[in-house]
Amino acid sequence: MLEHDVLIVGAGLAGMRAALAAHERGANVAIISKVHPVRSHSNAAQGGINAALTDRGDTWEDHAFDTVKGSDYLGDQDAIEYMCSEAGNELISLEHMGVIFNRDDEGRLGTRAFGGQQRARTFFVADFTGQAMLHVLYEQLMKSEIRVYEEWFVLSLIVEDGECCGVTVLEIATGRLYVMRAKKVIMCTGGLGRLFEPSTNALIVTGDGIALAYQAGAPLMDMEMVQYHPTTLKGSGVLITEGARGEGAYLLNSEGERFMEKYAPSMMELASRDVVSRSEQTEIDEGRGIDGCVLLDCRHLGEALIRERLSQIYEIGLDFAGVDITKEPIPIRPGMHYIMGGIKTDMDGSTIVPGLYAAGECANVSVHGGNRLGANSLLDTVVFGHRSGNHAAELVKEMPYKTFNVEAYAEREEDRLRELFSRDSNGERWSQIRLELGTEMDRHFGVYRDEEGMQTSLRSLDGFEERYKRVTLQDKGRVFNTDFVFTLELRFMLDCAEAIILSGLERKESRGAHSRIDYPRRDDENWLKHVLVTRTDDGPKLSHLPVTITKWEPEERKY
Ligand code: FUM
Repeated sequence: MLEHDVLIVGAGLAGMRAALAAHERGANVAIISKVHPVRSHSNAAQGGINAALTDRGDTWEDHAFDTVKGSDYLGDQDAIEYMCSEAGNELISLEHMGVIFNRDDEGRLGTRAFGGQQRARTFFVADFTGQAMLHVLYEQLMKSEIRVYEEWFVLSLIVEDGECCGVTVLEIATGRLYVMRAKKVIMCTGGLGRLFEPSTNALIVTGDGIALAYQAGAPLMDMEMVQYHPTTLKGSGVLITEGARGEGAYLLNSEGERFMEKYAPSMMELASRDVVSRSEQTEIDEGRGIDGCVLLDCRHLGEALIRERLSQIYEIGLDFAGVDITKEPIPIRPGMHYIMGGIKTDMDGSTIVPGLYAAGECANVSVHGGNRLGANSLLDTVVFGHRSGNHAAELVKEMPYKTFNVEAYAEREEDRLRELFSRDSNGERWSQIRLELGTEMDRHFGVYRDEEGMQTSLRSLDGFEERYKRVTLQDKGRVFNTDFVFTLELRFMLDCAEAIILSGLERKESRGAHSRIDYPRRDDENWLKHVLVTRTDDGPKLSHLPVTITKWEPEERKY
C-alpha cells in the first residue's frame, strides 16, 4: 500500500514549495506529477516575481494596495496583506537557495516595472524567471530526497465519510492503477489555460486539480475571472512578457499611434492587464488593428538590452513569427493566460473538504480577485505553497491514516477505464472536441462577453458532453498511452468549462477581467461579492460570499 502523510499533486512551484515546507516539519511527503517536475508549466513564467523591499523605500502596504486595486476590489484583503507582507522573505530565501536574480548597477537585486504598480518591484531572471526558480526548487527537492511519482496521473480523489484521504492514480509508463493513502492531499496542479485556444499555457494545463476538487465537492470561486494577457503572439498565442513593456516597449495601432494614451493616460502600457487587453481589443474591433493584432515595439530598447534581459522573447519572435524584435515591431493580441478563480481555500490552503488543500493557480485564496497583477502569480505559488505545506504537516503529526476499502476504489476506477477501452475505435476523438471547446471559450469568454454569447457556450458545452460519452481510443494498449491520458484530461476540461460558464452568466456586472457588453459598469451595490459554484447530486449550485475588506474601500479604478 502506498501511503504518505502529505501527498501533493503537481510539481510546479507551488507543489515543490509545499513539499519542502512539509518535509522540513518532519512529515512523510510525496509529490505526484503527470510530467517530470521541471516540465511543469511554472517553467513558462517569464517576467518576474513581485516583492516590496523596505531598503528600496517600498512598503508591503503599497504592494497590497496595488494588488487590491488591480483585483478591481474583488480580492480578499486579508489574504493580499499576508501575501505582500511575506513577499520579501520568500524572495530572499529563493535567492539563498540559489536563484540567480538579475542585479542592478550597484550589485543589488535588480527590479523592473510591471503593470498596475506604482513602483518597480518585480525581481527577475532575464525573461525566464519561472524556469530559474523551478530548477532551483527541484535541486532542493532532490537534496531532501522527497519521493516524486513522476509521470503519474491522478484519476480521482478518495473522499471517505466526507474527508479526503487519498487518490486513485495511474502510472502512465505501465498503465497500472494504484490507490494511494494520505492524511492530507494538497492540490498544486496549476491552471486550465488550454480550455481556451490559443493560450499562453503549455498543453498540459488542463484544469485537472480544479476539476478533481470540484468532483469531490469543493466549491470553485470566481471562475468567471479569466485573464487575457495583453501581449500574446499572433497565431500561436505564445507569451511575450510584460517585462518588455516594463523595460519600455510600447503598443502601436495600425495608424502608428500609442493608443494607450486614450485609455490609461497616466500608466499607459503599464496599466493593469485587463485595462490594456480591453484597450487593444477596442482598437482591433474599431478597425485600427492589423490582421486581428496590434504591434509591440521594442526597437528603441536597443539590441544589447534585448539580448540581455529579453533574450527568450527575442528567440520566440524569430522562431514563431519570423520577426527580429530589435528591428521590427511584433504583432500581438490579448490571449488567455491565467485563471484568477479556482478551488476556494482559506489562507492555510484548506478547502471545505477536510483533508483537502490547494495552493497556486488551481486555488483561489483570493489574492487576485478580478484581475491578477503580473508577477504576483509566482509570488502566490511560493507564499501559499509554503503556508499550506506547513499547515498540513503540523496537522498530520498525531493523526492516524484513515482506513477504507482499497479494493472497492481500485475496482471502481478499473471499471470506468475498462468501459472506455472497450468502446470501438470509430467514435468521437478527444482532440476534435478539445479544439472546438477551446475555440468556443475563446470566442465567448475572451476580453468581452455578453449573455447571448455565454448562453451559446452553455449550449455548446451540452453538445460536447454528449459527444464525450462517445469518445473512443485508437490506442488500446495500457503502456504510456497518451490517447488515454488526453481523453481523461478532456473530462477535467469539460468540468472546468461548466464552472466558468455558469459563473460568467451569474455575475451581472463588469469587474476586472469579466467585462460584459450588456452590463458595462461595475456594480458594488449588488456584486461586491464572490461567486461560488459547487457540484451536488442535483447538479451545480451557485452561491455567494462577501469580499473581505480590511483597509481599502472600493474606489473607481483609474490608471
Ligand atoms: O508577462 C509575463 O511575464 C507574465 C508574468 C505573469 O503572468 O506573472
